[in-house]
Amino acid sequence: MKYFIGNWKMFGVPKSIKILNKINSFNSKDQNRNKYKAIITPPYTLLESFSKYFYNKRLSIGSQNCYQKDKFSSNTAAISPFMLKSVGVKYTLIGHSDNRSEGDTDIILKEKVKYALKNNLKVVFCIGENKIEKKNNKTIKVLKKQLSKVLNKRFNRKNIIVAYEPIWSIGTGKVPSAEELGNIALKIKRILKKIFGKEGLPLLYGGSVDDKSIKNFKKIKEIDGFLIGGASKSSKKFIDIIKNYYR
Ligand code: PGA
Repeated sequence: MKYFIGNWKMFGVPKSIKILNKINSFNSKDQNRNKYKAIITPPYTLLESFSKYFYNKRLSIGSQNCYQKDKFSSNTAAISPFMLKSVGVKYTLIGHSDNRSEGDTDIILKEKVKYALKNNLKVVFCIGENKIEKKNNKTIKVLKKQLSKVLNKRFNRKNIIVAYEPIWSIGTGKVPSAEELGNIALKIKRILKKIFGKEGLPLLYGGSVDDKSIKNFKKIKEIDGFLIGGASKSSKKFIDIIKNYYR
């Protein structure tokens, strides 16, 4: 199964459901529809209405983050996995570099993953190195640390997806070459197999994926899908990514 996940970040108002309706109707008729899952992560304000609307449709709704506690607490403005689940959310991103840079540490991220899984959310756990780490050949070391400090073999493997998003590629139009990404993906999959056993976990790529760059990535068999930021705000671009991937 492949995944096409659109991360809306700070974008969207109620009428933006039009974009999702177009993606959902394409997905429902697409001849390749059984080969992939399409998911969008709108901001918190839209999760309840969008999750209800798409609950029994093909498109699934996810959250962009969750708080590191189970149910209810006294943390102002925090949204827990339990609260997300209660409004019909099915997936959550955890560990996006935006949130890591705002203070999410490995210890916090581990709590987030634990409570998201406890509440039956599927977790899309994001990892990635920055430009300086890449330049200093620290990519694999960084990724290994990000994975091993948070993921634990006792976690339910079936509900975790990993998204590799090099920070230098997010929103920049710069993407790794197919060869470079293929090598890194192979190494990430090895690390995941060490933690979870031979089946490992699905691995997505994210960072400047659009209808053009997708063509570089479709040959990489270790990549099980894509986390798409900017291009997911347009139904046409998001649909073209899927079309070009299977073309
Ligand atoms: P981008 O963002 O596709 O706009 O580079 C990816 C992400 O941040 O998930």
